Amino acid sequence: MRIIILGAGAGGGLPQWNCGCVHCNAARAGRLDAMSQSSLAVSADGETWAILNASPDIRAQLAATPALHPTGPRTLPLRSVLVTNGDIDHVAGLLTLRESQAFDLFATAAIHAVLDANPVFGALNPDLVTRRALALDRAADLAPGLGATIFAVPGKVPLYLEGETVQTDLLAETTVGVELSANGRRALYIPGCADLPDWLAQRIAGADLVLFDGTLWSDDEMIRAGLGTKTSRRMGHLPVSGPEGSLARLTAPARRVYVHVNNSNPLCDPASPESAQVRAAGWQVAHDGMEITL
Ligand code: MLT
Ligand code: MN
Ligand code: ZN
Repeated sequence: MRIIILGAGAGGGLPQWNCGCVHCNAARAGRLDAMSQSSLAVSADGETWAILNASPDIRAQLAATPALHPTGPRTLPLRSVLVTNGDIDHVAGLLTLRESQAFDLFATAAIHAVLDANPVFGALNPDLVTRRALALDRAADLAPGLGATIFAVPGKVPLYLEGETVQTDLLAETTVGVELSANGRRALYIPGCADLPDWLAQRIAGADLVLFDGTLWSDDEMIRAGLGTKTSRRMGHLPVSGPEGSLARLTAPARRVYVHVNNSNPLCDPASPESAQVRAAGWQVAHDGMEITL
């Protein structure tokens, strides 16, 4: 199984267009590596690919990824796109994929209902883009030899569908993790996750690789930095640090990678003490273009 991180960042990326925080300024000045928004590409045979989450940066991400360059006129070796929730950073890139490319679009029925309700996604020609609803906990093939099983993880509805009250640990079709399987190897991709119940930590520990939600380092990070008013958990993201955080709770499998890293997170800076701490604990922090072969 070959995995390419197309975008290691969370929504907004690094630098975020309207952010003058220390990390975004450093990325603009070239002192930190930029991160585009949350997406990865996966292949079992190295020839045909699935994309997991279609970020607003997908045009530049594809241009920067030779494995996903066209093999003929209007022909990309792309078989499918799977989205793990309806968040803008995971679905807006679908609009870029409207230009006469055939692929299957996988999502839960609940996420498909959100896309179906928005006429702008009608730009995806139904003769070419087949919308396929995935049932939870049921295996499907994303590309030749590449299996995927989606499963509910604690999360919430997309920000733009939030009502008066928001349940942030909803276990439903709105936020899913993906178990990828190929050649007897299993990788879990969980870019958004609000909590780590024991069953989920155990499931993760049994995989060969986990790509996990590394959005924020601490629960009040956005508030303390003057960048927002919500806690990490309120945004549907379990913080990395703290006794309940993913760093303390996930000590297996051996291969653990943080993805969906927000621009406020000290993990943006490889020289930060926090980055040294996660490396010492056996984690890697994803970067754009990072490749993993299982
Ligand atoms: C998130 O991951 O929390 C979302 O991408 C936030 C957003 O929609 O901007
Ligand atoms: Mn996001
Ligand atoms: Zn910033």
